[in-house]
Parts: sequence; structure tokens; C-alpha cells
Amino acid sequence: MSKKRVLSCIQPTGEIHLGNYFGAVKNWARIQDTYDCFYGVVDLHAMTMPYDPKELKENTLQMVAELIACGLDPEKSIIFIQSLVPQHTELTWIFNCIASYGELSRMTQFKDKSEQIESSNKTQFISAGLFTYPVLQAADILIYKADYVPVGKDQVQHLELSRNIAARFNRQFKEYFPQPEPLLTDIPKLVSLADPSKKMSKSLGEKHYVSLFEGEVSIRKKVRSAVTDTGEKQGDQMSPGVENLFNLIKACEKSTEYNHLLNDYQSGTLRYKDLKDTTADALIELSEPIRKKKEELMADKAAIEKLARTLSQKASDIASDTLAGVRKLTGLPDIK
Ligand code: TRP
Repeated sequence: MSKKRVLSCIQPTGEIHLGNYFGAVKNWARIQDTYDCFYGVVDLHAMTMPYDPKELKENTLQMVAELIACGLDPEKSIIFIQSLVPQHTELTWIFNCIASYGELSRMTQFKDKSEQIESSNKTQFISAGLFTYPVLQAADILIYKADYVPVGKDQVQHLELSRNIAARFNRQFKEYFPQPEPLLTDIPKLVSLADPSKKMSKSLGEKHYVSLFEGEVSIRKKVRSAVTDTGEKQGDQMSPGVENLFNLIKACEKSTEYNHLLNDYQSGTLRYKDLKDTTADALIELSEPIRKKKEELMADKAAIEKLARTLSQKASDIASDTLAGVRKLTGLPDIK
């Protein structure tokens, strides 16, 4: 029996941080034997927000290296660069004519990101690409006829749109696309170390996230200055900052240390310094081999680039089959 197909993607907007790793990439690596996996570095999506062209190119290649360093195996999974598979863009146009203006207007990520731009003091420009971002995402998924899409809760609305586009296409033309299902995994909710009331995210700024690649000194420094209790204690409830450190230790699979510290917490003898030291040790033990692996890979950039091109070509061969069927059904001439 053939394996079910999985697709997920990540934007090359910087280094993989702990939120990305525990929330997505670690799981992507874990399911590689169970499914036929496609993992995309979506550079076209990264163009929807203000960006620097030189950085985008560099970040895209780095992201391929980081994914491999995190355990994605190019022998098992197709790790591709979105813009090297031009069929994504072509299908996006066709889907633009199937998605409605109204449903795109209801996307909360569009509202959030456009507000983020408007409240920044850099630019007020909101591109049409930001508006049609979820249509490109639907094309990413459906061009491979993916069965499952591992996503976080924040992407559920986009996946729902992809399902609607697939259903509408099937009704309008012919049964062609399967309905992609979300693959929701049990993931720890990680918050910012500097402000535990916010989700760990790159867009908040340097002190709000920990990259897997920033190295021992910087990791220790950030963990040491993590906010624990902000003064007023909420009865017996653990404060969000303390809970976050516990969650990190658990995510690093340090259950002995976790239980020990939790006991101390419950008996009121926990010293936050011990909690922080354990957190930092666990994160360094996890990230050091990954960081070294990335360095090794990036020592030969040409080889990484060649690998990415080969895998993207594989993706493209599959994508062009899907697209040929779409062109037929929608009244466009065959390419050859
Ligand atoms: N929008 C996703 C995010 O910001 C990234 C993404 C693009 C994606 N295309 C995708 C995720 C297709 C899953 C499937 O995280």
C-alpha cells in the first residue's frame, strides 16, 4: 500500500527558533518514515512582508541546511525551495480565480499582519500578495495532492481555505483534489522568555525568541534573564514564565530533571536559578549538535544548493503532472 502524503512549509525569515523546532520541525522529522513527505522553504511567501532581497536568498539556503541539521533526511523527504517549483505560482493564479474576495477578507493572519505593518514606523504599504498569501498556501498543499498537513493552530484557518478551494474546484470542474486534513500534534505552547504573555515569535524581536543556532553563551544569557514571577502571584497557579521554563525542559525530554524540579516547586523549595540552569543545559545539549551539523553543511554551500535544486526538480516533476490535469479541466491549452 502506498503511503499517505504529507506537506508542510516554513518561511525563510531567519533562523529556526525553539517555537518552530518544537512546534513543527521536530515532528516533521519524526513522521518521515510513516508518510511520503514534502517540506517546502517558502521564499515566495516571505516576499509578502517588507524584506531584503540579499537576505532572502541567503536565508533560503540556510533554511535548507537548518532543516537537514534538524533531522530532515533528503533521502527520505523532498525538501524543496518553493520558487524553484514554478507550478506553485501558476496554480496560485488559477486558484485566485476560485477563491473569493470575501473569504480572503476574513483571514485573521492577513488582518494581524497588515496591522503589524500599519503600526510599524517603517512603511504603510500592504501588498496584494499579503492578501492572497493563503491562496499560494493552498497551491503549495494541493499541487502535491497532500493528504495531511502538519500545522499549528494559527494555520487552521488557512487550511480550511485550502479545503474550500479544493471542494469548489471539484464541484466546478471535476473531482480532482483530495481534501487535505490537518495533522495536529501535541505541541508545547512556548511563550517569549522576556514577555511570557506573548507567543515566542521572531516578529517580536531578538529577546523574545531563542534560535537553535545562536550558541551556548547567548542561550544561557537569555534563559538567565527570563521573566519568572512578575510580582503578584496568582494563588497556587504557576506563573506563565515559570511554566514556560518547565515546558522547555519537558520538550527537551528531560523528565527526571522535570519531575525533580516540579517536586521542589510543589514543596516551595524551588530556586529559580536551578530551574534556569537546568533549562539552559537542556537547550544547549539539544542545540549544539544541530548547530554543528548546520555549520558543516554550510561549509559547502554549493553542495547544499545543488541538493536543493535536485530535490526541487523532483517536486517539480510531480507538481507538473497535477498542473497538467488542472489545465485540461479549466480550459487552458496543453503546454506540449
Ligand atoms: N503560512 C505558513 C506559516 O506561516 C507557512 C506555509 C506556507 C505553509 N505554505 C504552507 C504551511 C503550506 C503548511 C502548508 O507557518
